[in-house]
Parts: sequence; C-alpha cells; structure tokens
Amino acid sequence: MHPDAAGLSAAAELLRSGALVAFPTETVYGLGADATQGAAVAGIYAAKGRPSFNPLIVHVPDAASARRYVTWCDTAEALAKAFWPGPMTLVLPLKEGHGIDPLVTAGLETLAIRVPAAPLAQALLREADVPVAAPSANPSGRISPTTAAHVLAGLDGRIAAVLDGGPCEVGLESSIFAVGPPVQVLRAGHVTVEDVEHVLGEKPMPSVSPGITAPGQLASHYAPKAQLRLNATWAKDKETLIGFGNVEGDMTLSASGDLVEAAATLFALLHQLDARGVTRAAVAPIPDEGLGIAINDRLRRAAAPRDAV
Ligand code: TXA
Ligand code: MG
Repeated sequence: MHPDAAGLSAAAELLRSGALVAFPTETVYGLGADATQGAAVAGIYAAKGRPSFNPLIVHVPDAASARRYVTWCDTAEALAKAFWPGPMTLVLPLKEGHGIDPLVTAGLETLAIRVPAAPLAQALLREADVPVAAPSANPSGRISPTTAAHVLAGLDGRIAAVLDGGPCEVGLESSIFAVGPPVQVLRAGHVTVEDVEHVLGEKPMPSVSPGITAPGQLASHYAPKAQLRLNATWAKDKETLIGFGNVEGDMTLSASGDLVEAAATLFALLHQLDARGVTRAAVAPIPDEGLGIAINDRLRRAAAPRDAV
C-alpha cells in the first residue's frame, strides 16, 4: 500500500478488523495486529511460524498511551522523555484492566512497549487507535526486514497488506530495557548502555534473569542461509568477504568504518547473501563499542549453528 492518506486509512481499517498489516518503523518493518484481539495476534504467530513462547512488542503513538497498559514509574518517565519516540522498548508490569490479549505477552506479567518515531508508524498508530502488537515482519528465525520488498519475500500471501515506507533508517531492532530496579538490557540496540547511563546516572545491568523471557537472545535467531565466519580479515576458499573500514571485502557494511551505516546496512546485506545464493561468508571485525555491540550481537546469532534454535 502507498503511504498516502488512502493507504493509511485502509491499513488502519484492516488492523481494526483483525487483519495483519506490515508497516515500517525506524528500526525494521513490523508485522502488526490489534493487540486486544486474540485471533489477530494468533495470526502473527501463524504467519511467522514463530514459537508461541515468544512475547511480542506493543506499539503505541506516545507515552500517554503506553501508560494505559503498563505500571509507570520515574525511571520509565525519564527513559521515555529521553528516547521516545525512538528505537527503544521498555518492559514494564502490566496494569490492571489493560485489555492486552494474553497471547501478546505469552503469559508474562510484563509487557514490552514502544513508541516508534517513523512518521508513517506514528500516523498508522494514531489512525488505527488500537495498541498494535508487532514483531519484526519476517518468518521466524530469518533476517529482519528493512524494506517492503523484504517483507513480501518472506510473508507474501500470509498477510493482508504492507505499507511501503521505503528503507528503515536505523535498520536494527530496538534496544530493550527491563525497567527495574535495576534497569536491565534485554537486547542491545541503537540506544546504548552509555545513552541510558547519561540519563539515569548509572549503567543498566546486563540481563541476569535465568532462562530469560527474551528469545531475541536465542542462539540462532537472525540467520541467513549462508554459513558465517566472524572477525575475518580475508576470505578463505570460496567465502564471500563482507568488509568494514579497512577490510575491503566483496561487499561492505561501511567502507568508511561508520557503525551507524553498518547497522543500517546489516540486514539488507544478509538478505543480499541469500538472494545471491552465497553459502559461505566471512565478516570483517566490527569494533565492540557503542552500536558495534548490537551489530556483533546480531552477527553472532547469524553465525550460530542452526540446530541451536
Ligand atoms: O525494533 C523492534 O523492536 C521491532 C519493531 C517492529 O518494533 N520489533 C521486534 O520485535 O524486534 P520482535 O518480536 O522481533 O522482538 C521482540 C523481543 C523478543 O526477543 C521478545 O522475546 C522480547 O522482545 N519481549 C517481548 N515481550 C517481553 C517481555 N515481557 N519481557 C521480556 N522480553 C520481551
Ligand atoms: Mg525478530
């Protein structure tokens, strides 16, 4: 669907009627459903072939809307003020009378909630006027989509529509923080540990929950078909070399060594490997700092043995 007034109102109407609509956020494309309708939410799990214990992120247009569903606190307020709308998800206790279908949280007492910044996501959420549950719009275990074409490559025929807003700006899923105390990092992303420290005055902790509830942490979650070798400075045998900075490669995450560019390129590049039928690739070292931490996290998952899921 085109991102004009007619496309938006049709997409909003589809969402309200319980259909699945993929839409662009600044991170990746989400596969949206009305979070208050169990059947619609079940449709997400079905379309993705996703294990049912994976809870979903709910998207709302602003922090005031978020407060209708979760128990708010000063820490949430400070983080929301600093990073919403934007690529950050907060995990907070569900509030009495929230109305969110339990399938969304897969039985947890907490809800992952996010206010996306992308104007089209904002417009859709306001027009639909329902909380929208949306995982990344890809089949389970596959690469997250950063264009409408990626969405259709994985889910065509299984969803009602995709709103085409062009390529995503950030290109990497949102940072997920469990709002404690203490604040814990459940998934690294564009909003970094240092960003949070700057706002709260202390560093969030790495996730300590045993058997954590965030299957984004499962070993092989972001998998291209190709076998990946990491921290490589040259290609062995018939490997395709993915460069970064000084390591040139057959293709590159960022020739100038820019981590923001590398993050925005990452998933599209992994998709390209699949499209080109590449079976083995080597990836240049990415500095493990700032956004590089999230990129390395995704790369390790992409390189993990497939039977680990
Ligand atoms: O950028 C993003 O976050 C994208 C866009 C579409 O918003 N969405 C996304 O959703 O990446 P998904 O479903 O692929 O990843 C959501 C992650 C999963 O790892 C899930 O387990 C975790 O969030 N999660 C959801 N609810 C949770 C909860 N209550 N506690 C802990 N983790 C939770
Ligand atoms: Mg995903």
